[in-house]
Amino acid sequence: MLLKIPQVLNKAQVAAGKELLLAADWADGNVTAGYQSAQAKHNLQLPESSREAKQLGDMVLQALAVNKLFMSAALPLKIFPPLFNCYQGGQSFGVHVDNAIRQVLGTPVKVRTDLSMTLFFSEPDEYDGGELVIEDTFGAHKVKLAAGDMVLYPSTSLHKVTPVTRGRRLASFFWLQSMVASDEKRSLLFDMDMAIQSLRQQVADSQEIVQLTGVYHNLLRQWAQT
Ligand code: NI
Repeated sequence: MLLKIPQVLNKAQVAAGKELLLAADWADGNVTAGYQSAQAKHNLQLPESSREAKQLGDMVLQALAVNKLFMSAALPLKIFPPLFNCYQGGQSFGVHVDNAIRQVLGTPVKVRTDLSMTLFFSEPDEYDGGELVIEDTFGAHKVKLAAGDMVLYPSTSLHKVTPVTRGRRLASFFWLQSMVASDEKRSLLFDMDMAIQSLRQQVADSQEIVQLTGVYHNLLRQWAQT
């Protein structure tokens, strides 16, 4: 499932984030790349240990914790601390797949990457190129969202970022381990949750809605690992 989540951050949060990002010290993006992706990766990144990455990452995580659409779609168990990157002057990231396991810096915590996220800090008209292109069985999807919006997609997908030929593309990127590892099962649960919530808007709580809610939780109970 590829899902766009609008307005994870509001405009004031985006503006504050951009100010912090523009003043930060950037490093070569290859610090977190695996062997294959290092050949393809040409961008800048905030070091994982940087104060700005920690401060902004906490803002992103707090926003996600109260985002119902994100919670329903991702069913997160562990979220890797958000990282931040910058593409400018023709920089790009060729086609690659993200590493399956990520260790959180300075801790024994390992995160299996079930879902990948990109949260945009630059508006689409601030740069040319810089599309995130995600491949799945239905073809290639180009993603370039408004600042504050985020895309969620399976980490199993091949993906790339096309060259930024004008301006600067600032974004946050990170991964999470879901309570439900299977993208197929997680998608079924998400569809069911959305349908139940929509039904609840249309009719007052009925016996059928209670039953369907029970089925949702009983499926989650069977499929979740915590
Ligand atoms: Ni990637």
